[in-house]
Amino acid sequence: MLLSESLLSQRSIKRDPRGFLREEYNRLVSEELDWRIRTLTTNSGPWSVISDRRVLVLCSNNYLNLTNHPLVKKAAIDAIEKYGAGSGSVRAIAGTMSPHVQLEKALADYKRTEASLAYSTGFAANAGLIPQLAGEGDLIISDELNHGSIIDGVRLSRAERAVYKHSDAEDLGRVLNEAEKKNYKHILIATDGVFSMDGDIAPADRIVKQAEEHGAMTYIDDAHGDGVLGESGRGITSHFHIEGRVDVEMGTFSKAFGVVGGYVAGSRDLINYALNKSRTWLLSASHPASVMASCQASLEVVQKEPEHLRKLWNNTRYFKDGLKKLGFNTGSSETPITPVMVGDSSKARRMSEMLFSENVFALPIVYPMVARDKARIRTIMNAGHCSQDLDYALKAFEKVGKSLGII
Ligand SMILES: Cc1ncc(COP(=O)(O)O)c(C=O)c1O
Repeated sequence: MLLSESLLSQRSIKRDPRGFLREEYNRLVSEELDWRIRTLTTNSGPWSVISDRRVLVLCSNNYLNLTNHPLVKKAAIDAIEKYGAGSGSVRAIAGTMSPHVQLEKALADYKRTEASLAYSTGFAANAGLIPQLAGEGDLIISDELNHGSIIDGVRLSRAERAVYKHSDAEDLGRVLNEAEKKNYKHILIATDGVFSMDGDIAPADRIVKQAEEHGAMTYIDDAHGDGVLGESGRGITSHFHIEGRVDVEMGTFSKAFGVVGGYVAGSRDLINYALNKSRTWLLSASHPASVMASCQASLEVVQKEPEHLRKLWNNTRYFKDGLKKLGFNTGSSETPITPVMVGDSSKARRMSEMLFSENVFALPIVYPMVARDKARIRTIMNAGHCSQDLDYALKAFEKVGKSLGII
């Protein structure tokens, strides 16, 4: 065959290169599993404006309302004046400015670890570091309900994988005993600290004990424990009094600290290793100095103004009790994340829309984020809510819950 004929026959292949995009989207829409994005036209606060409607926000991770704290905002404005809008590089080349280093020092002091390292996001920390901590000949053991960013980090690793039953330290022990029969070089145990869909807390004290007995490394994602659990919101290690016993404390500034950016905290050896090995750190631009300055201001506020944390927990208790008294099933939540279990995803969606008509913004969480029959409305408290706000929300939940036959 002539070269030109062969090219022609290749071109006649009937392959639709893009059709799957619409097909898959249409499938998600028909199963009511697509995301319908709401746009805020104000700041993220206890109340925000969305679609010209002023709504009570119950689905933001802005636990302490620090996105709106004057010192946190001012730190960013001042840093932009001094350092400009962007960093111009990755951290390893020319993108490390004084605020990056200062934040890492302040964070290590706050977390009571030797050192810390800032990543662009929590997702980037998990996806970049986990595959470097365990590779061929190693084993990673995960809680079955770990966050997607841990799951993706594990997928990028060449290590073998095992899963233990959700929050079940005994089952973890079983997996570790099984692992002793093989000759793994390293074993890494990875878990969320607070589970983001259910609001329950991992038994980190028992996990650490198991890890110590078996010579395994522990990796705890404290994204929802940061600023929320323990003394001054120091997180899960403070909550369980296990400071210094978790090998990798990973977290984010995007939730209770009200800004954005991931981190890991631990020994100096860990940080030296992480910054030389994590591709998401080495090959991705650093945050502008303004972000680092805001994060540092947040850490200061959390420690100097305990009233935000107190308010968050008072609100949490009040709202959770109110939901339970109304007859809602709030699952196994122990934290400001309180799911309102609905079951069916279409019903959860309808509930969210009806709440929105009542000026309450609370989103449905559906498959694949949770099992197909475990759809829910996930509510998250904000320290900026007052008791009238919470009563307002509870009234709306009561009205909508009754009309949908949930209570
Ligand atoms: C448990 C957990 N880990 C990691 C992340 C990712 O954090 P970030 O928003 O900083 O990427 C999230 C955010 O959804 C989370 O809930």
